[in-house]
Amino acid sequence: MSADQNKIWQGRFSVQSAEEVDVFNSSISFDYVLYEEDIKGSMAHAKMLGKQNIISEEDVSSILEGLEGILMDINNGALQFDPKAEDIHMFIEAELTSRIGDAGKKLHTGRSRNDQVALDLRLYVKKQAAEIIDQLEAFESVLISQADKHTETIMPGYTHLQIAQPVTFAHHLLAYAQMILRDIKRLEEVANHTDSMPLGNGALAGTTYPFDRQFVADQLGFKTVTANSLDGVSDRDFVLDMAYTLSMVMMHLSRLSEEIILWCSQEFKFVELDDAFATGSSIMPQKKNPDVAELVRGKTGRTYGNLQTLLTMMKGIPLAYNKDMQEDKEALFDSISTVKLALSAMIPMVDTMSANVDRMRDAASKGFINATDCADYLTKKGLPFREAYGVIGGLVKYCIEEDLTLKDLPLETYQSYHELFEQDIYSVIDLSTCVNIRDIEGGPAPSAVKKQLAMLKEQLEIVD
Ligand code: ARG
Repeated sequence: MSADQNKIWQGRFSVQSAEEVDVFNSSISFDYVLYEEDIKGSMAHAKMLGKQNIISEEDVSSILEGLEGILMDINNGALQFDPKAEDIHMFIEAELTSRIGDAGKKLHTGRSRNDQVALDLRLYVKKQAAEIIDQLEAFESVLISQADKHTETIMPGYTHLQIAQPVTFAHHLLAYAQMILRDIKRLEEVANHTDSMPLGNGALAGTTYPFDRQFVADQLGFKTVTANSLDGVSDRDFVLDMAYTLSMVMMHLSRLSEEIILWCSQEFKFVELDDAFATGSSIMPQKKNPDVAELVRGKTGRTYGNLQTLLTMMKGIPLAYNKDMQEDKEALFDSISTVKLALSAMIPMVDTMSANVDRMRDAASKGFINATDCADYLTKKGLPFREAYGVIGGLVKYCIEEDLTLKDLPLETYQSYHELFEQDIYSVIDLSTCVNIRDIEGGPAPSAVKKQLAMLKEQLEIVD
């Protein structure tokens, strides 16, 4: 709608709004993505108006036909969004009236853009949550299938990025599978919180018409209707829940990305990315860069920023709707598209990534990764753990000075540190033993990881 056209509220005003105001106020450049939700919401509303005898069945038919035509024309490109329209809601209503005439003017009976936009956003969040859950499930399958291949692949486990105790590559990957599983559950929760239908709240104080709100809710697949009209039009908790959950998804993807970046380095060389998921340098011919992982890590910040934007935007809003709330959309949409984009690149990258099994085992043989097991050996023979810990500390110091590992030491050296050492110490500190013995529930032993895998598959309903 341009400044030279009359606004729907023009009757109250003496002059047209300034062009600068129209530009500043307009949200169609980003809220056009809600067109499908807006049309579906309007269809349900129109049917309810007819059922309650608020408008005639004839008007309902022509509204439905008009809206269907608009939906089809937007989908096939025949109808372009008017950049001068104030928002998607005004655009569709104006288009409807221009197509069907007077019946179009009855659609907004008992409705406000305040409950309309709340409805559209709720429908949108529910749809996007379901789509992102699908992507996360696909990512789970990839993590699980990589883990399936590497239950015996020993790698160093780290704390402080210092070699700590041995784990397996499967165990390490499944730590991420657990994070993503929680993300899926969180998104399901977000969808639950979003599952109330706000139409009937009107601008803020409900409506004077005899609406059947549950009828609208049922048509649109909502469980319930919102309980308080002031809250219903100005609640954006579900947007914040979504933004927080998506920040969490990105945080998890970013942690894995950081590890992949490290693992791809010459110094680690634990994994090799498929060439299709790496990039080269414009000057250094030897380079193979993990750009996808870096960009996922880099894009994580936007989702945190969006969450902060939303929290700040909402904190000073008196009841009920205020125009500040139009700012919810770009933040929400950006977080959604960032997560979807990140997952679309990350899933095949992890799927095609290959593990360098020998390098991982080599790295695990260094750094006295078996020192705890060595201390546990003495403890299991009766020495209090703190004393055993002290004995092994001395042994490790000796090895560092002599440039040796624990497994290189002759039995006499062990025995000179403590008489409880016997020949069986060598099998106890063997890497495979160190991993296999950690078969406690949740541990890295292949047997425990296989149970973890089976449980994950069950939770995700993945059939072998
Ligand atoms: N474009 C607006 C938004 O996204 C729609 C609601 C406008 N309501 C109003 N009373 N001006 O928030």
